[in-house]
Amino acid sequence: MTEIYLDNSATTKPYQAVIDLTGRIQSESFGNPSSMHGKGIEAEKLIATARRKVAAVFEGHEKEIYFTSGGTEANNLAIKGAAYRSRRRGNHLVTSTIEHPSVLSCFQFLEQEGFTVSYLEVDRQGLVRQEQLEDIIGSETVLVSIMHVNNEIGSIQHLEELGRIIKNKCPEALYHVDAVQSFGRLPLKPVAWKADMVTASAHKIHGPRGAGCLWVKKGTLLQPLLHGGGQEYGLRSGTENTAAIAGFGLAAEICSTGLTEKAAELVDLKQAFYRKLLEAGPSFAVNGPNPRESAPHIINLSFPGLKAEMLLHALEEKGVYVSAGSACHSKHPDPSHVLEAIATNKESLDSALRFSFSGFNTVEEVETAAGITAEVTAELRKYFS
Ligand SMILES: Cc1ncc(COP(=O)(O)O)c(C=O)c1O
Repeated sequence: MTEIYLDNSATTKPYQAVIDLTGRIQSESFGNPSSMHGKGIEAEKLIATARRKVAAVFEGHEKEIYFTSGGTEANNLAIKGAAYRSRRRGNHLVTSTIEHPSVLSCFQFLEQEGFTVSYLEVDRQGLVRQEQLEDIIGSETVLVSIMHVNNEIGSIQHLEELGRIIKNKCPEALYHVDAVQSFGRLPLKPVAWKADMVTASAHKIHGPRGAGCLWVKKGTLLQPLLHGGGQEYGLRSGTENTAAIAGFGLAAEICSTGLTEKAAELVDLKQAFYRKLLEAGPSFAVNGPNPRESAPHIINLSFPGLKAEMLLHALEEKGVYVSAGSACHSKHPDPSHVLEAIATNKESLDSALRFSFSGFNTVEEVETAAGITAEVTAELRKYFS
């Protein structure tokens, strides 16, 4: 059976060049980057190269990159690091209701620590309500965290407008963007957004699992969460994962070379999938933004009358891999907080699947997957009607 992997928002297949590089580093360049001998210097150079490559994707400086174990850690560092560091100035934090759990859980934790958190609502397209942001920010606000691309429905926030509002209302408030789903897939403009911190993760861009980073604008002060040897300019102690970091650098370089063309190819894949599904005619609804306006690699669809989990496994039996909601939620029976936030009705909520694409997919493959989806939904509907 041919496998068609359409769960690229959860994680991606690593590039062969990344697998080769990380394998070679594990076996040959295993020195501790902090060691003063040649083996250490070799590892240190590999990390420096990766730092330059990752910084280029942010159009930033290499000293603005702090490597972490992934997106979750970078989000924790940004949010808790900013909140603790700025506590003397104020205790008000702002985020949106559709953030990834690695962001929302930090804010829930900080509420228990005595911070006040405002959760911004979104419209049916998953876009933050700008008037609400304007009303909520005050002189006590120390941090606003808003994601770039939503991992479940692919909505793309208007970060530049949001940044203007934040900095107009409270210039000292730090602005963090979780760009895990857009890094290496869409152009990133932290300076134009007026962002102070941006998160990225390697395994979403065909890099290895176990590496990510926080881009931190020069001069931004954060409280470290890990204390120890003072690696990563004192902000993130712990011996660096040289192989994963170097693999991240290489994946970032490959993804960002010809980014516009690569994004256009993803749009073509999504449109081919959507068109074929429309032609095949199973009744379905798009959740969130119009597919032409959402991120190139994500589409979230509901198949009313069916249960998402059943559909997911029926597709899996035919070799098609997708997610029910986001991967991080898929083992939780709770409905998706993102679909709830965009006011999805109960039937659509229970039957929502996320299809997400990558450059490893072909038009032929996604059309086959759309045909299989149509067949499977028709069979299940017959069975359950
Ligand atoms: C938007 C978003 N933020 C953060 C994360 C967490 O990243 P990581 O898996 O590298 O910890 C994810 C992963 O799905 C994500 O989609």
